[in-house]
Amino acid sequence: MKHFLLIAISWVFTVLCATSTWAVSALPREKVLLDSDMVEAFDDGIAMLLLANAPNVELMGVTTLSGNSWVEMGTANAIRQLEQAGIRSVPVAAGLEYPLRPNRHELFALERKLTGRGHDLWTGSFGLKKPTNWQTAYKETYGTTPSMHPLAKHAVDFIIDTVRANPGQITIAAIGPCGNLALAVRKAPDIVPLIKRIIYMGGAFFQQGNTTPAAEFNWYFDPEAARIVVRSPFKEQIVLGLDVCEKVIFRREHYDRLIKTLANHPMRDMLRTSFAGQSFEKNPNFTFFVWDVLVSAVIIDPTLITESVECFIDVNDQMGLSYGQSLAYPQEAPLGVQKARIVTAVDSVRFWDLLNNLQYWQIKQ
Ligand code: RIB
Ligand code: CA
Repeated sequence: MKHFLLIAISWVFTVLCATSTWAVSALPREKVLLDSDMVEAFDDGIAMLLLANAPNVELMGVTTLSGNSWVEMGTANAIRQLEQAGIRSVPVAAGLEYPLRPNRHELFALERKLTGRGHDLWTGSFGLKKPTNWQTAYKETYGTTPSMHPLAKHAVDFIIDTVRANPGQITIAAIGPCGNLALAVRKAPDIVPLIKRIIYMGGAFFQQGNTTPAAEFNWYFDPEAARIVVRSPFKEQIVLGLDVCEKVIFRREHYDRLIKTLANHPMRDMLRTSFAGQSFEKNPNFTFFVWDVLVSAVIIDPTLITESVECFIDVNDQMGLSYGQSLAYPQEAPLGVQKARIVTAVDSVRFWDLLNNLQYWQIKQ
């Protein structure tokens, strides 16, 4: 009798385990489109790899545009990092070369004199030489030829087609300037109600900007585009601006931990040679932020968000001292603005644990 009972219990246990594993793997995965001004490793590159590997996310594609880097370089960076991580199933589509305001790149030096600098000296492609094309950028940077290629389709059309093919299911992770998205919603306004939600890294609502005293880099790079997008009537908008991003400080201890986690992973070398890696290797007191990586982390685990406020939001597109500034209105707001949830705090201990969880670093050959 005792023997029979033991067999019965172990049978029930096996069935329960099998069903719960089945239940987890059968959960629908969050479909995410990543729109990025891609760099190596921190921050856009790591944000992309987290989403590509997360078991509860289906990364539908990566669209690139100028911002941190020229779009040609960003496309090469995206391709290279996907190759390194053995991820061949995620399409990459190249998008906008320039911000919407004509000749913005030529005017940037003058503008800088007008607005002054923020606390970050980074100016991205405003201060970099434009590569001829993505293949040259790849070859010159990595010394070899790519084994993957971006789609022939423009990023704007890729966004439109992906949203239309998956109505109500796509989360857009907007971790660069908003040019691709602005043109997508202008060209195909029907996609706005079809988008499940949009999560931005952009803006600095309750604190100073990083690129100018008033504005954060992504939204300052193309204020006209950011304004078009945040004013679109999406079902849900979530914003991670500098308000939360600058609370999660990236220190040498975090870098060392990640380097250990990435032992034997090809991304380890890329991290070491990236701007953040080199800076940590040279100076143990160096600090950095993880910006876009937080967007991916809260998509993977929304319980990381510990504080947020609901406001109507906008972006100043009037050229002047506050060009590109993000605006938050708790109650009364100008006509045409939309509501957003502005994240103001995350659980940073759990964030670093998530980043060091090996399930996000499996090489898929
Ligand atoms: O201001 C920080 C943002 O600008 C991040 O998205 C970073 O990658 C750059 O695009
Ligand atoms: Ca970015």
